[in-house]
Amino acid sequence: MLSKGSCFTSLSTFYQDDILNILETVKSFDDQNLKRFIPNKKKLIANLFYEPSTRTSSSFYAAATYLGHEVLSINNVQFSSVAKGETLEDTIRTLSSYVHCIVLRHPEEGAASRASIVSSVPIINAGDGVGEHPTQTLLDLYTIYKHFGRLDGLTVSLMGDLKHGRTIHSLVQALELFDVKINLIGPTDLKLPDYLFREGYLESVELTANLAQTTNVLYMTRVQRERGAQGNYAFTKLDAENLPPNSIVMHPLPRVDELPSWFDTDPRAKYFEQMSNGLAVRKFLLDRILG
Ligand code: NCD
Repeated sequence: MLSKGSCFTSLSTFYQDDILNILETVKSFDDQNLKRFIPNKKKLIANLFYEPSTRTSSSFYAAATYLGHEVLSINNVQFSSVAKGETLEDTIRTLSSYVHCIVLRHPEEGAASRASIVSSVPIINAGDGVGEHPTQTLLDLYTIYKHFGRLDGLTVSLMGDLKHGRTIHSLVQALELFDVKINLIGPTDLKLPDYLFREGYLESVELTANLAQTTNVLYMTRVQRERGAQGNYAFTKLDAENLPPNSIVMHPLPRVDELPSWFDTDPRAKYFEQMSNGLAVRKFLLDRILG
């Protein structure tokens, strides 16, 4: 599925075996010294970010550098020809003639797939508006897999802005490939889009005691206010009491006020480890795609 020269824009075409094969390979990257610098045949990777990013852009930058590659970072698009009204397609045509791979974050859904049509080099989707965030999903799955040793048989409760959260949109498609029970928790205005909803998903406006007690993975997201979303919810002391001892709490970050910092020292808080797993996953991806 992912091979040398391929784009990675969506998880919708992946099978269970593809994912399991990826997670095992990520493990081999994780087992090495992640920060070992191996100078090899250098490639140039463009980090083209039209939206803010801390973790995704810097982990791609670090992964590329530790693999011995160089990175051209374009994150102040107001200083590029985009400010003159250049289309995404023309920017991609230009960059793809200079670099070996483009990591793209863009505010419009479908931008990565549009880019892959005109690009002569692989495009990696680092978030396309409310669309997908497939590389985040690989690190989310890896975090779950590392903790439980499996994905099958788990109950995953997705809580927050399920409508606009692209991490949710990619994750739900990948979890659907496994025997995973999915609970959707959040305000009715922020429900999962219909195209992703499957029979058997349980919907609730709050994390009830019963839902919490049967959850293995609580995956929280923030309200995407920059996309016009509104809503209020937060993880509570009662939620912490109700979640089982071997459960984990994840969050793609940034968090705002939905996940309070008093929970950070709880052994079930996995979001910082989740974030650091981004390095192994992105090293794997660049290695696989650049060869
Ligand atoms: C997420 C994103 O950009 O979609 N952040 C990330 O990449 N870790 C989540 C978010 O912005 O809420």
